[in-house]
Amino acid sequence: MEITDKINKLKKERNAVILAHNYQLPEIHDIADFVGDSLGLSMSAAKTDAEIIVFCGVHFMAETAKILSPKKTVLLPDKNAGCPMADMINADDLKSLQSAHPMALTLCYVNTSAAVKAQCDYCCTSANALKMVQNILKTNDEIIFIPDKYLAQYVADQVGRKFITWEGYCPTHARILPEHITQAKKLHPQAKVLAHPECKPQITELADFVTSTEKMLTYVNNSKDTEFIIGTEIGIIHRMKKENPEKSFYPAYDNATCPNMKRITLEKVLWSLEDLIYEITVPQDIMDKARLSIERMLQVT
Ligand code: 13P
Ligand code: SF4
Repeated sequence: MEITDKINKLKKERNAVILAHNYQLPEIHDIADFVGDSLGLSMSAAKTDAEIIVFCGVHFMAETAKILSPKKTVLLPDKNAGCPMADMINADDLKSLQSAHPMALTLCYVNTSAAVKAQCDYCCTSANALKMVQNILKTNDEIIFIPDKYLAQYVADQVGRKFITWEGYCPTHARILPEHITQAKKLHPQAKVLAHPECKPQITELADFVTSTEKMLTYVNNSKDTEFIIGTEIGIIHRMKKENPEKSFYPAYDNATCPNMKRITLEKVLWSLEDLIYEITVPQDIMDKARLSIERMLQVT
């Protein structure tokens, strides 16, 4: 039997659903029940009827799914698939920042651990960060926005404010440099440049459109343009090509890959379903507090 047939058979027997992030390997996209960005995956996790969620992504994403579906079994097929940006801040770091700024409300990017989310007022993803900030600013002037300094700066520039930030960043997006964009523009002068807000400001300044991975897909699917330079993790290009076979997509930088996202393979998905590994668990009190910040986000979006 083909490995994909084995996965599909076991998925039915176990009443499982496979969720995959846009940066996963092409073969993982192809077997997933839902492929999306952090926001879309959180929402799918919240509403699925399946008993088991196999989360093809990184640890904080699987944790978010667990927090939103505490009665379900959430599995991460590789227990070492983490997010270096999420690991750049812990709950104690955040507590110190909050004591130094007692009047501030805290907005945390979804790329954080459950323990950090439990310490926050609101959560956001790159798809709704601007909306969340505008919402908070209605009642509060001071915002702690952690951990991504580049996303925070991008949103701060949009609203003309300064936030209290943290020195976090994504090592994959930080590899994309202005010269990569200018070189790609030289080769493909008609192409529109899309960039993720985790990129450095020098990159987002050069882009025609800055947004989350899912909104990039919506943009290219609806655009009359036919060529695009993609300033994010290159895994997303598989879905872009699949949904738009007549359009051309050029990675801004070929080496912009997230090694953690690429840890998930078909074999590991199969083993995950066979042995119910690796189960994500979060202490009840952390889960309950973290859920509040995520639910506040889902109410606004
Ligand atoms: P998206 O929410 O845009 O999919 O981004 C998640 C992420 O980790 C980007 O590096
Ligand atoms: Fe984390 Fe960057 Fe990988 Fe996204 S691409 S999961 S932010 S390391």
